[in-house]
Amino acid sequence: MEFSITTLVLFVLLATSIGIAQSADIPISKFGGVVNSDITQALTNAWNEACQSTSPSKIIIPKGSYRMKAVDLKGPCKAPIEVYTDGTILAPPNPKDLNNEWQWVKFEYVDYLTLSGSGVFDGQGATAWKQNDCGKNPNCARLSMNFGFNFVKHSVVRTITSKDSKNFNVNVLGCQNFTFDGFRINNPGTSINTDGIHMGRSTDVKILNTVIATGDDCISIGDGSVHTTIFNVKCGPGHGISVGSLGKFTTENPVEDLLVKNVVFTGTQNGLRIKTWPSAPGTSPITGIHYEDITMNNVMNPVIIDQEYCPWNQCNKQSPSKIKISKVTFKNIKGTSGTQAGVSLICSSGVPCEEVTLSNVDLTYNGAPATAVCKNANPIIQGKAPQCTAAPAA
Ligand SMILES: *[C@@H]1O[C@H](CO)[C@@H](O)[C@H](O)[C@H]1NC(C)=O
Repeated sequence: MEFSITTLVLFVLLATSIGIAQSADIPISKFGGVVNSDITQALTNAWNEACQSTSPSKIIIPKGSYRMKAVDLKGPCKAPIEVYTDGTILAPPNPKDLNNEWQWVKFEYVDYLTLSGSGVFDGQGATAWKQNDCGKNPNCARLSMNFGFNFVKHSVVRTITSKDSKNFNVNVLGCQNFTFDGFRINNPGTSINTDGIHMGRSTDVKILNTVIATGDDCISIGDGSVHTTIFNVKCGPGHGISVGSLGKFTTENPVEDLLVKNVVFTGTQNGLRIKTWPSAPGTSPITGIHYEDITMNNVMNPVIIDQEYCPWNQCNKQSPSKIKISKVTFKNIKGTSGTQAGVSLICSSGVPCEEVTLSNVDLTYNGAPATAVCKNANPIIQGKAPQCTAAPAA
């Protein structure tokens, strides 16, 4: 080949464009973070360097085991940052060693963050689960969640694992365009209050290709969650995918536009659930909820709207929930129910559910078709789906 000026110019252009696309590596060893050490300070220092950089950075925590206390990785930063780890990062087992922090690993006020690698963030929650008395003690000790993403935008969490969190695994608050892809959550079914991913006040959250095993809700969708997508997810053990619970506070925002598609529940307490508190002041509606192509493998309550949600008798049911639920479709739901009433639509007597559709809901209980119980709901039936029978009085 003749080495022309054109070739040279092309070569330089190509090299430059690769240079722009590539980020500068920041191994944590640069700050003394080595295998079997405590990397709290090393990761914090690496983050501070990355955050000041005007070009993209990639913080690398290589394979191996590390200890880490609570970290707060804050923006705003000047360029995209990737935190990449193939390591196993261990939280202190004693909850007191996390300084009463809401979360062990916190990312806040960052745009264009990527968290990736085959790494495991292990909350070592077994000690905390034994101490957890929050079901009956309102002043119980704070147990940190594994991850907090607060006010993070245009960001992705992929392929890493959250294991044995002391509390919820992940809390997503005030985020926008935030994706989990190929994420894993792994806790025993007996662990207390270890919700997988909880979100609230967030727009365009996507949970894709994710496997969740936990002791509480696999995914819980709190107030102000708008345009959420959950696609190709496995849940179990766990308590299912829940919208709510909602209604406790007047400051809540509506939940709108949720798609849950291609999800398999195995041995879970619930499948698709919407729950609101009775005798509670909140009025923000829940609307535009679409469930499609769902498989239930021995799920206790596969399809459940519960507007009389009141666990541990924490409330009374004297006045109905003020939350209006509308435009909810359950489409192509199949598999096995662990109870006879595979579908339970218990809506508010104050604001009955509107436009709930059951379209090809084909569930069995002990080999026979599962039934539907309904209250203040008048579902539209399409294709094969159970007809409602009246729910017994509460
Ligand atoms: C959403 O975030 C991703 C990941 O950073 C980014 O590539 C994409 O451009 C963002 N989308 C919008 C609409 O901002």
